[in-house]
Amino acid sequence: MFQAMPYDGTRSERFEAVLSQLAALIDGEPSVVANLANASALLKYSMPDTNWTGFYLFDGKELVLGPFQGLPACIRIPLGRGVCGTSASERRTLVVDDVHAFPGHIACDAASNSEIVVPLVKEDRLLGVLDIDSPLKHRFNDEERRFLERFAAMITEVM
Ligand code: SME
Repeated sequence: MFQAMPYDGTRSERFEAVLSQLAALIDGEPSVVANLANASALLKYSMPDTNWTGFYLFDGKELVLGPFQGLPACIRIPLGRGVCGTSASERRTLVVDDVHAFPGHIACDAASNSEIVVPLVKEDRLLGVLDIDSPLKHRFNDEERRFLERFAAMITEVM
């Protein structure tokens, strides 16, 4: 049975524990859907103050909603649109301290105030993005960006 990480310990201890949990969850499992579903749940229950954690997958043309935890969300996002489409087209992590100040931000959950999007790229191929929203402004700092980039790299390995 899965034990949700308590929100105590130092931040870096928690991050290492979550990465170990991810490794255990995806170990030997070939189903991409199952792995992304568990990864989104792991993030939801290990990152306080998040209201949406999940994936958009690149279908060769645009981003399409994948496994996630949170409210129902917009299904298709063209490359270059919103935070997700911009991160995907520029292939770099975007940390948005205040989504209302991001030109073209796509609002899926009115509660979201800050957001981080990490592109999933494997051998130069865009596979999708990891997207996390928070009701707090300035929720995601540099340490969290590095953690989520490691998380995304592990996920990309099994895609
Ligand atoms: N806010 C994102 C859209 C996806 S939702 O946050 C789940 C964006 O601007 O691309």
